[in-house]
Amino acid sequence: MKPVIALTKGRLEKQFLAFFQELNYDIEPLFNKGRKLQVETEQFSFFFAKGADVTTYVENGIADLGIVGGDILIEHQPDVYNLFPLPFGKCRMALATKANYQWPNRKKRIASTFTNITKEYFRNKGESVDIIKLEGSVELAPILGLADAIVDIVETGTTLKENGLVIEDEFLSFSARLIANRSSLKIKRDQLVPVIESFKKGVKEA
Ligand code: PRP
Repeated sequence: MKPVIALTKGRLEKQFLAFFQELNYDIEPLFNKGRKLQVETEQFSFFFAKGADVTTYVENGIADLGIVGGDILIEHQPDVYNLFPLPFGKCRMALATKANYQWPNRKKRIASTFTNITKEYFRNKGESVDIIKLEGSVELAPILGLADAIVDIVETGTTLKENGLVIEDEFLSFSARLIANRSSLKIKRDQLVPVIESFKKGVKEA
């Protein structure tokens, strides 16, 4: 059986393909996949999922390896081998508000997809806040008045800027990471170690 690799759909996908191409694997089928979610290459079986689901598939041994944002690992703490950082998907976590925002004199409302990270951030500050869970486009929350501020990932800063938000604080930085299922690494060791080593070499050369 070929190694099974779970890839995060979206922005990491393109960056991963560029990285993987540099490693001299034949990944042509990945470039013409259209809307297909599973792609076979000569050496690997790939499938595409949302970041948090990538960790679920790897944790449950459906995928041997996964590529996922560091933010997802911090937020969900899955039981996987968190092998090493990859040279793409570099982001930071930020607290952002509307420019010149006057914080109201009541308990703060913070919108985020990353509720655990948000909870921990305010716990460390000794502040009690109400956290509102959103699934995406969190920048809308302060603009539409759902929340005072957001905790979200920032990569280029374009989304904040184009929506009139500014960073109040930055508190974590991370990149994409290679993760592995714990049993796969034992059972499929001979197959997986060369792949992991090639990734490591790619990271050093990046
Ligand atoms: C993420 C994040 C920000 C944006 C930051 O959203 O939630 O909205 O990227 O990137 P930037 O600093 O380069 O503008 P994503 O595109 O993953 O989609 P989402 O809004 O559905 O979470």
